[in-house]
Amino acid sequence: MNQRVSKIFRRGSRPLPRPHPVDLAEGLEHARGLDRPARTISRAIREVLRPGPVKDTLHGVPAGHPAHPPLTDVSVGCWMSAGVLDLLPGTEQASKILIGAGLAGAIPTALTGLADWSALHPEQQRVGLVHALGTTTASALYLLSLFTRHRGHTAAGKAFGYAGFTFLMAGAYLGGHLAFRQGAGASHAEPVSHLVPLGWHDLCTADELPDGWPVHRRLGYISLFVLRTQDGIHVLADRCAHLAGPLHQGRIVTETDLTGDTALCVVCPWHGSTFRVRDGSVVHGPATGRQPAFETRVTENGTVQVRPKV
Ligand code: FES
Repeated sequence: MNQRVSKIFRRGSRPLPRPHPVDLAEGLEHARGLDRPARTISRAIREVLRPGPVKDTLHGVPAGHPAHPPLTDVSVGCWMSAGVLDLLPGTEQASKILIGAGLAGAIPTALTGLADWSALHPEQQRVGLVHALGTTTASALYLLSLFTRHRGHTAAGKAFGYAGFTFLMAGAYLGGHLAFRQGAGASHAEPVSHLVPLGWHDLCTADELPDGWPVHRRLGYISLFVLRTQDGIHVLADRCAHLAGPLHQGRIVTETDLTGDTALCVVCPWHGSTFRVRDGSVVHGPATGRQPAFETRVTENGTVQVRPKV
């Protein structure tokens, strides 16, 4: 090996430097010491927040997207603006209004966050717990900042505000890790529509499908939920949009959807998301994203064929 190649090899074999915050966030994913409080809190949330319209609204089912992430913008925006105004003279009143508005926005933000967090995997709940700790500390510091400003101690109020912003950013970083690295809130079924080539595909024979009982079939490497009923054959992506639970192991129920229509649905065995089998639309959360659905037809020789619904 010549000198140059050996130098490159030595450099290549060295572990790549990694950004420190990611190491911390990944460490939290495995911090089992957080499990006990996480279990206690999530059990309490599930007991208070029973399945129904309030829970669905907190998850964001009517909007078709999780409600928590956009709501965080209210407090972050208000408090960040207050921080900028605090650098300028004569803006005390405006800063107080913004801090108060941020505190008001923190209430629905926390409620939606708790609802989502109570239906996550343990690794996600560990990170989510510290995220919530950061944002709750930030809210408490902003409350203290407002109180101190009202008492006429503007400098101390600003200091509490900047301390709150530091915790807010730390919490926001973990929120980003939770959403983008750990996939909390994103649809876990969405890629299916991009993985199936256009056109009809043979799936199985109609004879082998039991009546009214969901089964699992594979289309290449894609898992599908298949249900044969008197209405026909219904096919959905099998991995639940919420966190990829196996829908073919779910219960088949008749539910009333948001429009008041009665529909045949499948309930995910993991956290109870309920989807209409006809088109994959969400009837109950925590999932907010539609389950990809497939059109079906049976050929003359009894083969069930599917193609993605567009
Ligand atoms: S994986 Fe959570 S409801 Fe399906």
